[in-house]
Amino acid sequence: MSTINGKTIWVTGASSGIGLALAEQLAAAGANLVLSARNQDKLKSLADRLPGTHIVFPLDLSRPEKAMAKADHFLEDIQVDILINNAGISQRSLALETDFEVYRDLMEVNYFSVVALSKMLAPHLIQQGGGHIVTVSSVAGKVGTKHRSGYSGAKFAVIGFMDCLRAELADKNVRCLTVCPGFVHTQIAHNALTGDGSQLGKADPDNAGGISAEECARQIIQAIQRNKDEIVVGKGLSKVAPMLQRFFPGLLRRLIARR
Ligand SMILES: NC(=O)c1ccc[n+]([C@@H]2O[C@H](COP(=O)([O-])OP(=O)(O)OC[C@H]3O[C@@H](n4cnc5c(N)ncnc54)[C@H](OP(=O)(O)O)[C@@H]3O)[C@@H](O)[C@H]2O)c1
Repeated sequence: MSTINGKTIWVTGASSGIGLALAEQLAAAGANLVLSARNQDKLKSLADRLPGTHIVFPLDLSRPEKAMAKADHFLEDIQVDILINNAGISQRSLALETDFEVYRDLMEVNYFSVVALSKMLAPHLIQQGGGHIVTVSSVAGKVGTKHRSGYSGAKFAVIGFMDCLRAELADKNVRCLTVCPGFVHTQIAHNALTGDGSQLGKADPDNAGGISAEECARQIIQAIQRNKDEIVVGKGLSKVAPMLQRFFPGLLRRLIARR
């Protein structure tokens, strides 16, 4: 069982939803946090109200090279034990109606930023004798559905990256956890990109009917403590979809095409 108390944990996407709930629960469990996202004001007010002492480290992950340069300096001064790559942005648009640039934007935040931060931190974790790299992918990284062609592509890719990293770091005491949530009630749909790159700007009944961000965070923390490799978090069809994909792929494809 890994402990949270006293660990320094870097959470990206800490200004909202699952990342915010993670920050609240990790701080309550005695972790020292590094809080990243673009919205500095939200991060500052979060750090002020959480128990303990936390660092606000604003980062725009849509430009991973710039984020890497900034994080490189930062890591010289601080020892991080656990990185949680949680920041992400979704999509609501048909493939044939989506600009090519939108695919690139989805890959930058959901895939390349994970590669960038994980590659940066891993040598530090090895030198420290171990640690965790956690990445929040999605059930959309296991099963493709309508309106998510760019998001799903990035979330599938990040699962592959994490599988390889886990194998390569297995003998170095660096645990790699991939989290695949189904629907979670957050701002994800509101912030999702449409075909021209603008925000959807409204809620989605599927997400609104999902589990709470607090429940999702609770299961992620439990998986870190238990040194798990991969978890699926959720309820209903979104929870069982990866299992259906494996054992009844034809049935699942028909269900998805009809929805
Ligand atoms: N909610 C779901 O149903 C669901 C299901 C499966 C997977 N997930 C995954 O869970 C993770 C968290 O999403 P959520 O549901 O909590 O959504 P959310 O409420 O929209 O939060 C997304 C977080 O990512 C940050 N972010 C977005 N773009 C960023 C950028 N360019 N640079 C830095 N940070 C950025 C946002 O902060 P700023 O805007 O302040 O930058 C925010 O803190 C994502 O990876 C998402 O794909 C969610």
